[in-house]
Amino acid sequence: MDIKLIRLQTHGDERGSLVALEQENNIPFEIKRVYYMFKTKEGVRRGFHAHHSLKQVAIAVRGSCRFVLDNGSERIELLLDNPAQGLLIDTFIWREMYEFSDDCVLMVLADQNYDETDYVRNYSEFLELTSKEEMYATL
Ligand code: TYD
Repeated sequence: MDIKLIRLQTHGDERGSLVALEQENNIPFEIKRVYYMFKTKEGVRRGFHAHHSLKQVAIAVRGSCRFVLDNGSERIELLLDNPAQGLLIDTFIWREMYEFSDDCVLMVLADQNYDETDYVRNYSEFLELTSKEEMYATL
């Protein structure tokens, strides 16, 4: 599975660091929505869904957390712990987030407004949908 980590340019000087996020520039889509998770309790796992059409970029702007990304045939685990790194989560990728550090602020940029109908929250349904996608892709 191709994991796209976006290296976000950091403008640093003696005062500290600054990262700018720009749609269609270092963020490869129109940013329609931004949300962030914080004060996540110890032992909590979040996510457990994929999206039909939503694309997102996740940035651990503070602290760290781990991600599982699963495309239906491969499962990859990675640590997000750098505010100058964006993780692109494409459509039809099952994601789980866990081991949030106490101070973790996980910010997510999305290319669409919140829409519950875009979610696939059942893993077997997700597997079924991804195998159908593959079948259509090979036809
Ligand atoms: P939820 O989907 O459970 O988060 P995750 O699956 O990533 O752990 O979202 C938690 C709540 O927040 C749920 O009631 C839906 C709401 N929510 C919004 O209202 N807007 C949003 O953009 C998101 C991501 C969630």
